[in-house]
Amino acid sequence: STSSIQEQTPQINSIDAIATRIKNGDIKRIVVIAGAGISTSAGYPDFRSPKTGIYDKTAALKTLPYREAIFDVRYFKHTPEPFFAVLRGLMQMNFKPTVTHAFLSLLHRMEVLEMVFTQNIDGLERAAGVPDEKVVAAHGQFGSQRCMICKISWPSDRFERVVKSGQVPRCDDAFCNGLIKPDTVMFGEPLSQNFATSTKLLDSADLILVMGTSLKVHPVAALPSQVPKGVPRVLLNREKAGDLGSRREDILLLGDCDEGVRSIADALGLRDELENLWRAV
Ligand code: APR
Repeated sequence: STSSIQEQTPQINSIDAIATRIKNGDIKRIVVIAGAGISTSAGYPDFRSPKTGIYDKTAALKTLPYREAIFDVRYFKHTPEPFFAVLRGLMQMNFKPTVTHAFLSLLHRMEVLEMVFTQNIDGLERAAGVPDEKVVAAHGQFGSQRCMICKISWPSDRFERVVKSGQVPRCDDAFCNGLIKPDTVMFGEPLSQNFATSTKLLDSADLILVMGTSLKVHPVAALPSQVPKGVPRVLLNREKAGDLGSRREDILLLGDCDEGVRSIADALGLRDELENLWRAV
């Protein structure tokens, strides 16, 4: 269990020690690795939590050969309906950034945010005020879409109208008739170029925050282990993930990430700033 891990690797770090080093300028390049768990308190389902995760909810779709097929481009090409059914559900809801997203914006305002690698496609980091150049959307984003064959892009309002009406959006060019797909990265598709170039930032980070992810999908899952030894890695997650906890300098804040970021803000003496930022988004 986690407690035995902690006994084996006595923590040489604490949130207070980390906060002191941020305040005295010793830590000024923080890299964040985020997943669906930072958006669940906004009502956005994650993927693998039992019962509430998207994969459990869509398991009822008997047609899926395996649960992640719903986001696999090879399955999508011949059976796009399940993907658009999930998308239609998400389109009905509008999401507000969580206090965890607001915390990322706070780090940016403190000029200590080097980069956020997010696996999420909800765009809530930007909505919370994190500038584009500080977000690497490893799995793409909703908000733009194009024909998979001729690459012509579709306006979002038309795409939303067609998906919400229950149809499968297809290219207007009858000779093409390609599927219109959001610019999200499905299983079987390459990640964006800027992901590959940005991972170098891990080599010069002073602190890594891993939040709301099960670290099950590569290549993002491998990022924390690429961090040089000695650089503190903090996990803010309901459960252990990846190799977090295996290094003496790791800190495990197991529980809701919204509570985890609040405890860091308290240690920084910036709890009111955080809550005010969150209220303002
Ligand atoms: N606070 C802290 N942890 C949370 C919270 C929360 N409020 N809600 C969920 N979690 C944890 C879950 O316990 C789980 O460990 O967040 C993690 C979410 O894991 P996943 O559902 O696997 O989501 P993620 O890691 O982002 O999945 C990665 O898989 O299907 C693909 O492309 C998809 O980007 C996604 C990728």
